[in-house]
Amino acid sequence: MNIGLLGFGVVGGGVYELAENRTDLTVCRVLVRREIEEIAPIATRDFNEILNDPAIDTVVEVMGGLHPAYEYVSAALQAKKHVVTANKALIAAYYTDLTALARENGVALRCTAAVGGGIPWLTNLERCKRLDTVTEVGGIMNGTTNFIMDAMHTSPVSFPAILKKAQELGYAEADPSADIDGDDIRRKLTISANIAFDAVLDEERIPTFGIRTVTDGDIAVFQHHGFVCKMLAVAQKCGDRVCAMIEPTLVSAHDPEASVPTNYNLISYTAEKVGRQSFFGQGAGRFPTASNVVQDCLDILAGHTSFYTEAMKPTELEDAVAHPYYVRTACPDKWLEGITVDHWDGGVITSSVSSYEMIRWAKAQLGKDPTCFIAGIR
Ligand code: HSE
Repeated sequence: MNIGLLGFGVVGGGVYELAENRTDLTVCRVLVRREIEEIAPIATRDFNEILNDPAIDTVVEVMGGLHPAYEYVSAALQAKKHVVTANKALIAAYYTDLTALARENGVALRCTAAVGGGIPWLTNLERCKRLDTVTEVGGIMNGTTNFIMDAMHTSPVSFPAILKKAQELGYAEADPSADIDGDDIRRKLTISANIAFDAVLDEERIPTFGIRTVTDGDIAVFQHHGFVCKMLAVAQKCGDRVCAMIEPTLVSAHDPEASVPTNYNLISYTAEKVGRQSFFGQGAGRFPTASNVVQDCLDILAGHTSFYTEAMKPTELEDAVAHPYYVRTACPDKWLEGITVDHWDGGVITSSVSSYEMIRWAKAQLGKDPTCFIAGIR
C-alpha cells in the first residue's frame, strides 16, 4: 500500500513510525504545514501532489478539523483512493456524503481510530452487528473528562486546576471545551450509534450536558452517598428511533465504570444474543490512535471496505429515558421544587424525570445560574 499522509502531528508521526517498520506499507508523501527535517524528501505543502500521484493508492487523514479535511478526503475518494481517517468531527458530520462517495468510487473508507483511540471498538461493534442485534452502545468515551473526574475523586482538587493538568499532559483537545462540554463524546456516540443501528443521527440534536460546572464539593457529597460521578454517553434503540444522550452520571462504586482510572475509556455494546461486551483501553494518544489507523490500512489490504451499510437511514431521536437527578443551583426554580424528593447538602435529588427534559432545563438554568450542575442517577 502506497500512502499519502495528511498531517504529521502527534498521530501522523506515530503512523509514519509504525509504517516505517513494515514492508507492506510505504508512506510516499506527507502533507505538512511546516518544515520537518525527518521527512523533508517526501514532505509537501500541496495536496494536489498527493491527489495527482497515481502511485498513491491510499490517503491517511490525520490532520483533524472539518476543513479542508472534508475537501481533501472527498477529492481522494473521487480519485479512487482508499481513505483512512482518525477524524471524528469529519465522520460524524459528513458520514452519509463520504460513505456514498466511497461506494460510488469502489474504494474503502475506514475510521476505527475516530472512536476510542487505540481501542478496537468500531471493528468489534461491526463484527457483533453482522450476527446479532445491538440494542445499546455507550460508556466512558473521553479520556480527558475521565481523567478529571477520576482525579477529583482521588484527592480534593478544583476543576480548573485539574483541567490545566489534563491540558499539560496533552489529553485535552486543543479547545478543551470540546472535551468538558461533551462535544467530543457526542461525535463518538453518533458514529457508534450510526454503525450499531444503521442510523444517521443528527449529532447536534443529541442532549448533552458537560462537567464544566462540577465542584469538589459535589464530589464530596457523591462519595458520602456511595456514588462515583462519571461522564457517560448512551444510545439505545427504541423501535425506529434512537434515544441518545451524554451527561454526568452517578454510578454505584461497584459498577465497572466507577473504577475506570485516569484517561482510560470503557465502551460497551449490548446485543440481544451476546449480551453486554465492554472494551477498555487508551482512548487517545500517539501510538494507541496510530495503531488503529495502521490496522485500518491492513484491513483494507485484506479486502475490508467500510463500516457502513446501505441500510443506514436518517433516524429521529426519542425521549425515552427517565431517572432521578442530583441538581445543584443557586437560583430557585418552581419546576425543580415540584420534583424535589430529597436534599443532599447544597444539592437536591429529584424524582424520576425525563433526561431530555432535565438536560433542556439545566441548559436554560445556566443562563440564570452559570454554576448550575446536574448528574443523572443510574
Ligand atoms: N480529547 C480526546 C479524549 C482525545 O480526551 O478522549 C481522543 O478523542
